[in-house]
Amino acid sequence: MKPAAGSLLISEADIQRRITEIGAKISEDYKGGSLTVVGILKGSFIFIADLIRRIDPSILVEVEFITASSYGKGTVSSGEVRIEQDLSVPIAGKDVLLVEDIMDSGSTLNAVHKLLTSRGPRSLRIATLLEKESSRRQPVALDYVGFRIENVFVVGYGLDFAQHYRNLKEIRILDAG
Ligand code: PRP
Repeated sequence: MKPAAGSLLISEADIQRRITEIGAKISEDYKGGSLTVVGILKGSFIFIADLIRRIDPSILVEVEFITASSYGKGTVSSGEVRIEQDLSVPIAGKDVLLVEDIMDSGSTLNAVHKLLTSRGPRSLRIATLLEKESSRRQPVALDYVGFRIENVFVVGYGLDFAQHYRNLKEIRILDAG
């Protein structure tokens, strides 16, 4: 059977295994505390749904979303990021975990991290499922990384091509052409 998108890069089982490990680490790091988990839409929605269910229930978890888009995406990213929809609560004094599906140039994470930092959280960490090798990389400190991948275009598990393939359970490399 022809796959919906190109060759398999990370299987469903490997994704789930890694998220269990990251969830355990987060549970350890925030033991006895509370956490505001902020997903960057749209790509992070599946990762965040799986990740929060791997965080120990003794930690009080609040879930928020922010929608960001970069100008010039797909061709040359200008690094300019626009916030299309903001958080619905203040984060001052809170422990915040920013959740992203993939870091490519880093411009999205950089911009959102700067914005959230300006609001005075008690702490701010970043979890990304994928970290892509990129020559255009902006410096962003990542605290939890699922997988480091080569500079290939990937889809599935929340990641899209022209808004499609987000529903794949695994991550695939999109066929060129
Ligand atoms: C993708 C992805 C990240 C961003 C990463 O979002 O979900 O948010 O690009 O690229 P960067 O590190 O170069 O900024 P996209 O703009 O495609 O929107 P989406 O999340 O709605 O798919």
